[in-house]
Order: sequence, then structure tokens, then C-alpha cells
Amino acid sequence: MLITFEGIDGAGKSTQIRKLQKLLAEKQCETIVLREPGGTEIAEKIRQILLESRHDITPVGELLLFSASRAELVQQVILPAIAEGKTVILDRFFDSTTAYQGYGRGLDAEMLQSIIRLSTFSLHPDITFYLDISPENAMLRKFSEKSLPLALEENELDRMERSGSDFYQRVRKGYHRIIEGEKNRFVVLDALDNPEKLHKEIVASLGERFPAFSGLRTP
Ligand SMILES: Nc1ncnc2c1ncn2[C@@H]1O[C@H](COP(=O)(O)OP(=O)(O)OP(=O)(O)O)[C@@H](O)[C@H]1O
Ligand SMILES: [Mg+2]
Repeated sequence: MLITFEGIDGAGKSTQIRKLQKLLAEKQCETIVLREPGGTEIAEKIRQILLESRHDITPVGELLLFSASRAELVQQVILPAIAEGKTVILDRFFDSTTAYQGYGRGLDAEMLQSIIRLSTFSLHPDITFYLDISPENAMLRKFSEKSLPLALEENELDRMERSGSDFYQRVRKGYHRIIEGEKNRFVVLDALDNPEKLHKEIVASLGERFPAFSGLRTP
């Protein structure tokens, strides 16, 4: 079982993943939580290159680095875990590539799809939770109103986060297009709802869709 979480930076993915992980652990469901890019020694090194703001990377270079990290993670960790019957929760997967490198950076959609097929070994999530939020609200969440100008000034944002608000608008619209084309796989959530309500919705969706999770209840 592969569960993925998507949404722009600051949407609340990590917060919801932590809650779900805790609940599944209490139910003795064998779960592995991973994040992209990262999850293997090589993939974590690639993560550092991708997120350090001093690097200037071309869009194609960025795509290939993300994809290299993904191939390592899928082949070395995710596929073996799924084969052992574990539940894998993934913080971002190939939808992030379509949204960020495709819609955000403007790389060719067909070329992206071939690279995605290659780097994922055609692995697809069973369900994807998309947390929808505007770039403005997401930034405010990560940095309070007072500290955002300071964070910009003091170079606290990572390389992706420095891409600007127009970029994030394109990424958000990109996610909306992806979801239009694959409505069955996605559960769309309003990221402005409170974390407890979102958690309940996530657990309910899992219960409705998968018999293995039908007994799952939030406290
Ligand atoms: N539903 C929510 N309502 C209000 N604040 C939230 C909610 N979910 C998360 N937050 C807060 O918003 C910030 C960003 O949340 P989180 O780190 O979970 O987002 P993320 O999508 O994982 O971001 P990134 O892509 O940067 O890792 C955190 O400070 C978190 O406490
Ligand atoms: Mg996160």
C-alpha cells in the first residue's frame, strides 16, 4: 500500500503525516514514512544539493536530480517494503515533479512523463491526499507575518521556496490540473481546516476505500 501526500510548501503535509503515522503505529500497522527527495544515503545527499539556496541549478538539472533521488528511493526502499506488505507513506512523489518542474518551471509534459515512468519503475500511489492552500497563506504559515520579510532578507528560505509567488501559483494550478485528470486517486482537502478535522477526513477516506483500514478510528 502506497499513500502519498502532496501540496505546496507549507500546506501541512508533514503535520498530517505525523498524525497518521502515530495512529497507524497504535494500531500495530507496519508503516514506513519517507520523504522526497531523500530516504537513502545517496538520495539525502541529492536533497542537500537541491535545497541549498546557494546553488544555481537549471530546470533540467533540477528534474534529473529529483528523479535520481526518486529512483534510489523507489528501488532500494519503497518496492521492497511494499513487497513485504508494509504501508508506505510518502511525503511528495511524482505529482510534485509534474506540478513543480512541469507546470512551475515549464518543462515539456511528455518528456516529464517518460522520466517519471523511468524513475518510479511505473509505481503508482494507491491514494493521494492533496492539501490545497494559496501560496500567500502557505508562506504566512511557515513564517509569521512579522518574520517573513526578515526570512527573505536573511536568506532563510530554501532554494525552492525562493522561486517566488508566481511560480507557486503555477504549481498550485498544476496540481489542480493533475487532479482533474485522475479524480479517483486523489482526495482533495482544504488545508485551512484545522489539523484535527483534516486528520479525521484522511482516516475516513482510508477506511472507505480500503478494507485493511476499515477498522481505523480517530480517538
Ligand atoms: N491545518 C493547519 N492549520 C494551521 N496551521 C497548520 C496546519 N497544518 C500545519 N500547520 C502549520 O503550518 C506550518 C507548515 O506545516 P507543515 O510543515 O506540516 O507543511 P508541509 O506541507 O510539510 O511543508 P513543507 O513542504 O515545507 O515540508 C507548520 O508551522 C504547521 O504547524
Ligand atoms: Mg513537510
